[in-house]
Amino acid sequence: MSSEIRIGIVVGSTRPNRRGGVVADWVRRGIESRGLVPELLDLAEWALPMLDEPDPAIHGAYANPHTRAWAAAVDRCDAFVFVVPEYNHSFPAALKNAIDYLFAEWNDKAAGLVGYGVQAGVRGIEALRPVLSEVKIAHVRTQVCLTLMTDFALSGPTDVGTLHPAPYQEETLGRMVDEVVAWAGALRGLRVPT
Ligand SMILES: Cc1cc2nc3c(=O)[nH]c(=O)nc-3n(C[C@H](O)[C@H](O)[C@H](O)COP(=O)(O)O)c2cc1C
Repeated sequence: MSSEIRIGIVVGSTRPNRRGGVVADWVRRGIESRGLVPELLDLAEWALPMLDEPDPAIHGAYANPHTRAWAAAVDRCDAFVFVVPEYNHSFPAALKNAIDYLFAEWNDKAAGLVGYGVQAGVRGIEALRPVLSEVKIAHVRTQVCLTLMTDFALSGPTDVGTLHPAPYQEETLGRMVDEVVAWAGALRGLRVPT
């Protein structure tokens, strides 16, 4: 049953030299260890312009090809794991922009959050939660918070580095993915086929 749940990993940072890639790779391995095949939704690759739709997403009348392509990719997923760095006590503008593009495609799906930053990304995650609620994403309680100070090996402040998460982080990621899968399965019954 759980193998049928399709999880999109939304990589929320887009800058060159970002650490989002190594975090997303760790998340991918954690999801795969549960027997699932995640889909990577890397906002750097999507390169969405600043929201340029004439109508608010809630009307579902997407004018632009890039919006329709993004909608199709999100629609394919039953659930999401958002990989979220903390930027100025919040989450990156590129992630807010990508969320704002759509509405129905996010609705009645589950999500888990993986934050990271100098101070473990907690404020970025907390800022994202009400946004996810507004697009009717059910975000699970368990969250992963990686700190640059101990969960990464860095040679300096601009080094992308490598990820060496403390053992409890692996356990937390697994628990979070299990919660996401359980909620995604339950929420499927609410969704009408599009
Ligand atoms: C614009 C910007 C603002 C940041 N603000 C914070 C912050 O408020 N708190 C924090 O702990 N780290 C902050 N950082 C550090 C980032 O969380 C850290 O560099 C992380 O690697 C950024 O994610 P990325 O590498 O995927 O872009 C900031 C980094 C950037 C680029």
